[in-house]
Amino acid sequence: MLNKILITGNKGFLGTHTQNELEKLGNRVIGFDIKNDFAEDIRNKDYLDKVFEENKPDIVIHFAARPGVRKSAIVPEEYITTNIIGTLNVLECCKKHKTKKALVASSSSIYGEQPDCLLKEEMVCENPKSIYAMTKKSVETLCKLYSSDMKVYVFRPFSVFGENGRPDMAIGQLLNIYKKGGVFEKYGNGNSVRTYTNVHDFVDCLIKLMYYDSINNYEVFNIGGAEKISLNHLLKIIMNIFPLRIKEMPFNELDVTSSCADISKAKQVLNWEPVRNFEEEIIKIFKNNE
Ligand SMILES: NC(=O)c1ccc[n+]([C@@H]2O[C@H](COP(=O)([O-])OP(=O)(O)OC[C@H]3O[C@@H](n4cnc5c(N)ncnc54)[C@H](O)[C@@H]3O)[C@@H](O)[C@H]2O)c1
Repeated sequence: MLNKILITGNKGFLGTHTQNELEKLGNRVIGFDIKNDFAEDIRNKDYLDKVFEENKPDIVIHFAARPGVRKSAIVPEEYITTNIIGTLNVLECCKKHKTKKALVASSSSIYGEQPDCLLKEEMVCENPKSIYAMTKKSVETLCKLYSSDMKVYVFRPFSVFGENGRPDMAIGQLLNIYKKGGVFEKYGNGNSVRTYTNVHDFVDCLIKLMYYDSINNYEVFNIGGAEKISLNHLLKIIMNIFPLRIKEMPFNELDVTSSCADISKAKQVLNWEPVRNFEEEIIKIFKNNE
């Protein structure tokens, strides 16, 4: 079935890839991003309400946010107003205009440091390590409250990478150095691990989530890659592509040592699993940017 979908943050990394795929499938997408127009600010509730009134979306995919852990220590107020108040405005509009389903971006950062390496949706996340993680915790709490009126499915992406990926993330930084030169700042001893998620695997999962119908109004899903990759392993792959210069830095206390997704819920419930090979995809991205 085709839908009218409003995507907030449609000009961002995940928003662009998601919009492209949804349009290819024949859906109608309405974008809402401050990069489209200054007025398209999720903090501007009157304008947001006008866009909902004019378009009456069936589904909302809410990506718009200030992302990134480190920057949240520099401009905390920006994170709190955009991520928390902005999400409140989006959910209020969904409720008022009777949107059937909202898919809302949280983050793997919400787990903080956990005793177990594999992170499961039901884990208690009471110790966010950054303002960013705290805002996403609040986003999830808001979603749960608003799920009394509609279906709200929260997804927690784990370090997504791909074409036009975010320049502040490790792979984006490495790609920038490949194109423009420079030195990579390696924080800690390189043993930190991530389950990097290919953006096409991510979008496949999100689309399955869009068509998923549960008896529960509120659900949370991890969306992560299948392979655990240490920073040292990532750098080894990169150094086979080009000679990278590295500057050793102390471990950053805002980072987590391990952020690996347990994706058994998405596998079981959505019948999804990541299918793209990490090393092959990384090489492909670098070759495409030669
Ligand atoms: N990329 C990842 O690996 C990752 C991991 C965890 C969580 N997330 C979450 O997924 C979502 C999308 O992330 P992304 O990587 O695409 O980030 P991004 O920065 O590329 O995209 C965010 C978009 O939101 C827009 N935006 C920011 N403030 C806005 C405002 N006030 N009003 C309207 N638009 C605004 C930006 O212009 C941008 O286009 C975010 O909520 C982020 O926290 C992403």
